[in-house]
Amino acid sequence: MRKKVIAGNWKMNKGRSELELYFSQLNREVNGGLAAACDRLDVICATPYTLMSRAHDISSVLGVAIAAQNVHWENQGAFTGEVSVPMLLECGIHWTLVGHSERRQYFAESDLTVEKKVSIALKSGLKVIACVGETLRERESDQTGEVVARQVDAILSGAEGHSADLTLAYEPVWAIGTGLAATAAQAQEVHELIRELVGKRAGPSCASSIRILYGGSMNSANVSELLSKPDIDGGLIGGASLKPKEFATLINVALG
Ligand code: PGA
Repeated sequence: MRKKVIAGNWKMNKGRSELELYFSQLNREVNGGLAAACDRLDVICATPYTLMSRAHDISSVLGVAIAAQNVHWENQGAFTGEVSVPMLLECGIHWTLVGHSERRQYFAESDLTVEKKVSIALKSGLKVIACVGETLRERESDQTGEVVARQVDAILSGAEGHSADLTLAYEPVWAIGTGLAATAAQAQEVHELIRELVGKRAGPSCASSIRILYGGSMNSANVSELLSKPDIDGGLIGGASLKPKEFATLINVALG
């Protein structure tokens, strides 16, 4: 039985003054409180770098893990504007996103940089949520399988020997921030394909244990149906994670 994951991606939103209220409201709205919920599933918030330390101080007692939204593939050096794995670990951060489509689209993230980031992060003991997903143009020209396979392949190359700490997220680019989520059937089809790809490359036990999250306009209206699918193990949630009440609903549904 795979433990579910509900991960919020705050992107470039929120400030320090909002943190206490956010986590106390979230704690209040989650059935039985966050600490009990976090015994049964992983609740993660990927905050901006500037909020991570403070958010970690507040949320770690509640069982919520704080994640980075990106990380560099070198430990140190002349990389202006970047943050490395040891820097995250030093702040008590044990999770990071890698390869989000906004990083791929706006910051020239490639399959190669994703592979390098996944590799250093996992080797250094960080847990990784690595993202894949096709654009609308790719879906409309029947390239979804090919694109996702290429992206998953790069991630698995980086994860070789360390896949226990790897979580994948299928995030169709056309569904992110658009309010147009994939249907549960569309998402399940791609999740099943991803699990098959993992099986071919990393073996059946890795395929059955790896968690694959859905992301792209997941909200309180569609979460139940999405999470009812056999290969969907949770969500990576942008907009709906910014509102504690809405995010709590997703956690409550995942708790069952
Ligand atoms: P969204 O974002 O839930 O706002 O669509 C998801 C993501 O980008 O991870």
